[in-house]
Amino acid sequence: MKEQLQAGKTIRFNVNGSSVDLSVPATYRLVDILRKELNLTGTKISCEVGRCGACSVILNGKLVNSCLVMAYQLEDAVVQTIESVSADALHPIQEAFLQGGALQCGYCTPGMIMALKSLLERESQPTKEEVLQGLSGNLCRCTGYEGILRAVDILANKAE
Ligand code: FES
Ligand code: FES
Repeated sequence: MKEQLQAGKTIRFNVNGSSVDLSVPATYRLVDILRKELNLTGTKISCEVGRCGACSVILNGKLVNSCLVMAYQLEDAVVQTIESVSADALHPIQEAFLQGGALQCGYCTPGMIMALKSLLERESQPTKEEVLQGLSGNLCRCTGYEGILRAVDILANKAE
């Protein structure tokens, strides 16, 4: 059994526009693959049980917690991580975080940015309520949400 779990599972999928072929342990989750195999460490891991949103990525166009996605679910998938967000310049979401002083830590910020990016891909002009709803799966347990709320206002006002 142990040998089976350690045996490689071969998968092919796309990450941030690049095709990836990997053989990984069957027990690996998407977050493990991103961080351990692809060195995409912008995606963080915290609660590991789908509650905090630190590991949020966009999988086949939908926001997911990458700690809950198993390797076998990735065949032919398309994944966007935080590393894809500002390839050339800061994304408007990142600008809003800067302007709003939303200086969250490195653990929760990437997940929040991906949650908002997923929202903007579905709804280019979100209301403040929709932005808050979009962030509802992303928890910060330390600094509070004042800066985030200012960034939400900036983002919603720009979108409206
Ligand atoms: S680490 Fe995945 S939701 Fe918390
Ligand atoms: S968890 Fe990141 S600032 Fe609180």
